Amino acid sequence: MHWLEQEDNVEFNLFNRTTLFVCCFKYSTCLQYFLNGHYYLKSKTGIIYETYCDMTTDGGGWTLVASVHENNMHGKCTVGDRWTSQQGCSSVFPDGDGNWVNKVTFGNVEGATGDDYKNPGYYDIQAQDLSVWHVPNLVLMENWKKSAIARYHTNSKFFPRYGGNLHGLFQHFPLKYKGGVCKTDNGPSIPIVFEKGDAKNFKEMYGPETYGETEPGYVTFRVFNFEQAALAICSGVKMIGCNSEHVCFGGTGFFPEGSPKQCGEIAGWDWSGYGTHDRWSATKTITESTVLLFYR
Ligand code: G3P
Ligand code: CA
Ligand code: CA
Repeated sequence: MHWLEQEDNVEFNLFNRTTLFVCCFKYSTCLQYFLNGHYYLKSKTGIIYETYCDMTTDGGGWTLVASVHENNMHGKCTVGDRWTSQQGCSSVFPDGDGNWVNKVTFGNVEGATGDDYKNPGYYDIQAQDLSVWHVPNLVLMENWKKSAIARYHTNSKFFPRYGGNLHGLFQHFPLKYKGGVCKTDNGPSIPIVFEKGDAKNFKEMYGPETYGETEPGYVTFRVFNFEQAALAICSGVKMIGCNSEHVCFGGTGFFPEGSPKQCGEIAGWDWSGYGTHDRWSATKTITESTVLLFYR
């Protein structure tokens, strides 16, 4: 690894990828780059961090800021469930681990499909839109794009209305057990455009019993379920029912129904058996994929 002594020396040889690795940490988002891949960015407070830039989707400029990875579907709010609770499933933890709203970072970019990942861009970048990829677990970075089971993004520039990124959005819509009720207190559902996959097929990767509870073509934030557990993101759908734990992921540290069975990164996606795609259970393919979150 080579480090430049001064960031002013950076604008050379942009098309030489070896040089690219060491050259470009003066920028704070991927907007200025040209090629898909691995880059260094610099946060407003001067933290240099590694990430992946997607420079081909809809004109590019997408910065990977986080991944949500289920390391053990049988561990219910145990180690590795950073986007819910690693401290057990209990009303003692109504906010869970709080990683949707804090500035704690974890993981590394090349490991983003093998563990949870969160970099300073998550809270630092003032974004307009969100892009989401579902990539099978453990796929290598160079194959993420082509191996994704689905890729979509918003294009309505919705983030500025909600604090400019997910960190801001979850300040507006706190993830708290008993912080609201389904469906009146659910957060926004934003229309999406698919680059890979399509809205109807994607919705049908969740359990068949959920089909009557979702509407395809959206990404939704902070929903409650019947028991008032809060979930962070419903990928690909708007919730029109309240068994949201079989569709949405991330959230609080307490899921009362069948406790602790619904607690963990991807909640109750295995309610009717792991990967069975029967009744309330999602397909094995989506269950064993990591969600990559990008900002632009
Ligand atoms: O979320 C589904 C649950 O509320 C009912 O499940 O298996 O008793 O039909 P089940
Ligand atoms: Ca788990
Ligand atoms: Ca339920």
